[in-house]
Amino acid sequence: MDKFRVAVLGATGLVGQKFVSLLSSHKMFELVYLTASERSAGKRYREAVNWILNDELSENVGEIRLYTNEELLTRRDFDIAFTALPSEEAEVVESKLLEMGKVVVSNSSNWRMDPFIPLLNPEVNADHIYLLRSQNNFKGKIMKVPNCTSAILSLSLKPLMNRFGVRKVIVTTMQALSGAGLTGVPSMFIVDNLIPYIQGEEEKVENEPRKILGSFGLKGIQPAGFEIFATTTRVPVLYGHTESVLVELRDKAESTEEIIQAFRDHSWNKIADLSLPTAPSEPIIVKKENDRPQPRLDRVYGNGMSISIGRIRLDLTGSVLRYVVLGDNIIRGAAGTGVLIAELYAELNKKGKI
Ligand SMILES: NC(=O)c1ccc[n+]([C@@H]2O[C@H](COP(=O)([O-])OP(=O)(O)OC[C@H]3O[C@@H](n4cnc5c(N)ncnc54)[C@H](OP(=O)(O)O)[C@@H]3O)[C@@H](O)[C@H]2O)c1
Repeated sequence: MDKFRVAVLGATGLVGQKFVSLLSSHKMFELVYLTASERSAGKRYREAVNWILNDELSENVGEIRLYTNEELLTRRDFDIAFTALPSEEAEVVESKLLEMGKVVVSNSSNWRMDPFIPLLNPEVNADHIYLLRSQNNFKGKIMKVPNCTSAILSLSLKPLMNRFGVRKVIVTTMQALSGAGLTGVPSMFIVDNLIPYIQGEEEKVENEPRKILGSFGLKGIQPAGFEIFATTTRVPVLYGHTESVLVELRDKAESTEEIIQAFRDHSWNKIADLSLPTAPSEPIIVKKENDRPQPRLDRVYGNGMSISIGRIRLDLTGSVLRYVVLGDNIIRGAAGTGVLIAELYAELNKKGKI
């Protein structure tokens, strides 16, 4: 199969680095262009990037010359653009990429709630990709990766919604430093500390999962019909967002075993039969130990694409469920899901469905 030629915009940032790592030797994609700000453009990637991943930087990719976004926009010979830019910059560049007819997979928060733009967490809502058929205002196509916390939360809620229905969700997050990007939170503010506020985050967590978990029909996406109440906090953890969740179920559960079965059952997984390279075989890992999941120990499952759920507690009525969910914010919450979305697009495009 011919590979899609791809570009990563914002390639020197934290999410951009993970994109570069995942795309360096990918069977469906060939990494051809990388961009960064004017500070870095013109240099070889290896010289400009402050590479902080444990993954090795491939030699070939290290030699790629960094472009500015404007320089990239003068090139025609690529198919897919993965954007990992601050959202103000992304909004401008993504508009131009769409005018050029490119396929855009975007991590930035602009347009995530646009009714014509799919906000994809593929196991949960792969079918929303068919919204692309109604994107007729420009030549290209755009798909959004959810906010990191919303990606993790929506994946944990999907089996519960399918099996029991959901009336209400209350979530308190403990979010890693890497969620704020490479230059993120100054150490003087966060060492020996917790910050009980992340600008703009609670609004995203209260809205995005409802779009992701919504139903897709003739009238577009109907958001899931329950409210989410979120408190988001920053903690001194490097990678891995932890979320303490309370869910009011619509139908009663008999026991925590029934909840665990729902999480482990794969019937809710909308891409289970597609064998996409980045899809984890077990999207949800259930931890039965009392003191798990923990970011340092449990963010690694499924190469960072699986979430882990523990502390599962059901009240005596069987309607109030509490649990703790953890996921890698850079992989499941950003670049990994971005690559999975592009794989889904490539697969459906090959079959002529998109
Ligand atoms: N970190 C996460 O966990 C996470 C999760 C989900 C979504 N996101 C979203 O993904 C995007 C990237 O996040 P990040 O954490 O990777 O941020 P980051 O580490 O700060 O990286 C930002 C990237 O954008 C480039 N850039 C900054 N300003 C630019 C400009 N004016 N023009 C062109 N390029 C510019 C930077 O290039 P230089 O290196 O040259 O400055 C760098 O490559 C953001 O929209 C963020 O909200 C992040």
